[in-house]
Amino acid sequence: MCCRKNALRDFGQCLAQLSCDKKFLHYISSMHDKFIAKTRETLVESETVPELPVAMSEAAQAEQPQGLAPTVADHYNKLQETGLAKRTESRIFYMRNFNNWIKSMAIGDVLDRLRRERGRDCAISVLDLCSGKGGDLLKWKKGRISRLICADIAATSVEQCEHRYHELRDRSRNDRHDGPLFLADQFIAADCFRVHLKERYQRPTTFDLCSCQFSLHYSFESHEQADMMLRNACECLSPGGFFIGSTPNAYELVKRLRASENGTFSSEVYRISFDPQMKDSQPPLFGAKYDFHLEGVVDCPEFLVYFPLLEKMAAKYHMKLVYKKTFGEFFKEQINDREGRNLIGRMQGLESYPADDGVQLSGGPSEYKEAEERIKEMTNPEDRRRPKVGTLSLSEWKATDIYLVFAFQKLSAEEISLKEKTQENDMTTE
Ligand SMILES: C[S@@+](CC[C@H](N)C(=O)[O-])C[C@H]1O[C@@H](n2cnc3c(N)ncnc32)[C@H](O)[C@@H]1O
Repeated sequence: MCCRKNALRDFGQCLAQLSCDKKFLHYISSMHDKFIAKTRETLVESETVPELPVAMSEAAQAEQPQGLAPTVADHYNKLQETGLAKRTESRIFYMRNFNNWIKSMAIGDVLDRLRRERGRDCAISVLDLCSGKGGDLLKWKKGRISRLICADIAATSVEQCEHRYHELRDRSRNDRHDGPLFLADQFIAADCFRVHLKERYQRPTTFDLCSCQFSLHYSFESHEQADMMLRNACECLSPGGFFIGSTPNAYELVKRLRASENGTFSSEVYRISFDPQMKDSQPPLFGAKYDFHLEGVVDCPEFLVYFPLLEKMAAKYHMKLVYKKTFGEFFKEQINDREGRNLIGRMQGLESYPADDGVQLSGGPSEYKEAEERIKEMTNPEDRRRPKVGTLSLSEWKATDIYLVFAFQKLSAEEISLKEKTQENDMTTE
């Protein structure tokens, strides 16, 4: 509790220093522009560009014009597609399904919101920003959207995503019970935090929803990248359209960092390492790097996303926050919904405890103490059968509870014009 308070205070102080000036984003971007101008001046003055060492240090890599994006793209391009059999054997089988369930529920929720506001049969156009191999294609199919554009930096993943879509389309055509599948006519391989995607769309495009799952933290390497991510996510949204996503919760990470011995903390399935010096210092707003390792899935540098900053930056694109919840909070809420409970069962998002006959638990006995407690509370001495509960091993829970899920909504056309008028008035009175 005390660590959480400290983390909140440090981050709070960090933002307060800037946000007390209502033009703090202008401040950041003008500082950044000055910095870039200064760097250019120095290069022009010295004329000779120093030779780079053969093996670049991490610090030198970060100063490269592309920052750490090539490292991230390379990692995801090399990730092998694993078959169902291999996935079932994985130590994080249930956690991956659980995370997928969270995404399904968040996507279902936002599609419901859109249909409530615009009518049951409204056409819904979606941008899947950082779509990877197309892990959410089936969710878009189930959500009966009408059009999808996918974009990701990892070209191999984008190819696999397109291939998966074509397979899905062929299956849909051959299945007379399937309705028409959404149209996915553009798969863009590009650094979505540096490339202006609007210039890449083959025809004028408006989206009703942008979804950026488990990815936006890579953009917080710099203010410029985070701003381009938000521009791509939000500028083509129709008024009232949504931007949803999932990302690690900086409060939780900083809390664990403060409690760590030397900047590294882990469970059986994940490991996060910060520069040990970060343990007792204030993380910067951009470029607060840590290395994230998740059993067989992720092994990459990532950056802290301080959520109030994301919220402020999103306001530039006329976005207002609808909700932000930790996975734990979102789970508790959605599991009360009958559909959510049924879906988590079908998706195998929780492990049965005690294990069914002949099935081995994912973790050791010490990983299920809470489930054991719950069973004790539920057990009726007259029942001969021991009840079962759905759970995750503690190590998986510690890894998944790092994340939060959020939704922003674009202001209505009237709200946008009112906001612009107010800003104009503010400028003239200053
Ligand atoms: C953890 S995966 C998530 C993939 C997908 N959204 C999902 O939920 O299954 C992170 C994705 O972010 C992508 N990514 C990272 N940096 C990016 C960038 N600069 N531009 C576009 N995509 C990026 C990676 O290539 C990878 O596919």
